[in-house]
Amino acid sequence: MKIAIIGSGYVGLVTGVCLGHIGHEVMCVDNDKKKIQSLQAGEVPIYEPGLEPKLKELLAKKRITFTTSIKAATQSSTVIFISVGTPSKKNGEADLTHVENVAREIAVNMDSYKLIVEKSTVPTATGRRIERTIRLNLPKKFRHPDPKKNGLDFDVASNPEFLREGCAMEDFMNPDRIVMGVESPRAEELLRDVYKPLKAPIVVTNINSAELIKHASNSFLATKISFINAVARICDLVGADVLKVSEGMGYDKRIGRAFLNAGIGYGGSCFPKDVDAFIRLSEKSGYSFNLLKEVRQVNEEQRQYFLRLIEDKLWIIKNKMIGVWGLAFKPDTDDMRNAPSLEIIRTLQHEGAKVKAYDPKAMDKSKMELPGVVFSKDAYAAASGADCLLVLTEWKEFLKLDFKKVKTSMRQPILFDGRNLFDKKLMEKTGFEYFGIGRGKL
Ligand code: UGA
Repeated sequence: MKIAIIGSGYVGLVTGVCLGHIGHEVMCVDNDKKKIQSLQAGEVPIYEPGLEPKLKELLAKKRITFTTSIKAATQSSTVIFISVGTPSKKNGEADLTHVENVAREIAVNMDSYKLIVEKSTVPTATGRRIERTIRLNLPKKFRHPDPKKNGLDFDVASNPEFLREGCAMEDFMNPDRIVMGVESPRAEELLRDVYKPLKAPIVVTNINSAELIKHASNSFLATKISFINAVARICDLVGADVLKVSEGMGYDKRIGRAFLNAGIGYGGSCFPKDVDAFIRLSEKSGYSFNLLKEVRQVNEEQRQYFLRLIEDKLWIIKNKMIGVWGLAFKPDTDDMRNAPSLEIIRTLQHEGAKVKAYDPKAMDKSKMELPGVVFSKDAYAAASGADCLLVLTEWKEFLKLDFKKVKTSMRQPILFDGRNLFDKKLMEKTGFEYFGIGRGKL
């Protein structure tokens, strides 16, 4: 099938490459010329395991191409995915300017039937708005004095994406479910054809419900994280271990162990933005989603809680050398958007600390964001001479280090584990003063 993807960001690019991999002919569009040139040369601007080699393979087989022209992509495809950015406005609402612009540009270039599929995370009723925008902007030859009767057949569908950064390809190829918000048999048939090679339960519903599934899923996962973070706070007060609490809860199939990792809270380009957008969407629709407001509040407090812990145990912050392991908002990515490390490091710097940091992939992207931080060549160098060490991203490679060596190189062996990555007892046996989140009385 000939497929166009408009917007070559994280979701667009992974979608394009994976759809190429399962046998479609894909044209990816972006208005950033430089990005398109480097993608056409096989260079991926983000770190995502497996993405670059697969892109190179598809380029060689000519199964994927890149362009800045929405016209070319529209006219050469039957199915067009919209996966442009939907950033937050000041009030938390999603800014849909890019979606509207793309819908209009698709419309003016349409020459035959198209299925336009929204992949970006958007509030409910966006599909309807896209449909209307397209109908109002069709080429003159297809227009009727009554815009409702404008004559070129097309469908709009919603097909939200649930991939996670760091394992995006794997998530795309093995989804828990595929959601199809469709309002005509033709749209459903085409979307089913697109995903035919994938094995997954398919949920077919209307566009509004599909849009809501995405918001509700991300917000529910954020709720799980804030719930366990609140439990972790209680663990620290009463002397319980949140790891055991999550394990004990997680065996209950109705609860599940996933997304019950307590720590410095969720970050990234999705959860913070999507929770805000869902709160706003609910408010606009007439419901005050107080539960989600509390989820957001607990998440914001986690970073402050961690900072207070450091201030308490390290005592004086001014002029202390603080070593940091991990900067990215989660492991296996170089993404720094809304990374909890940013607020934590900036606050410590503001209080007069000197910071040395190491991240396996995210240091390049951190440099602009974190002036004054010394970026170390490896984890040992970041710890050496430090008055304490903070773990802000749970990269697996940190587990393999020689901890005796780390300990002896530090000025004071104090370890603040913001992701509960390490075994508390083992670290204490090695000689560290160890502080995790929710690991017992502080
Ligand atoms: C999230 C969802 O998991 C995807 O299903 C969704 O498609 C994506 O948003 C999106 O809307 O595009 P992502 O933001 O890539 O994916 O990363 P997650 O693995 O969900 O982690 C988000 C944040 O939650 C990270 O900062 C992570 O450290 C934190 N987290 C996650 C916890 O603090 N505790 C946990 O138990 C799990």
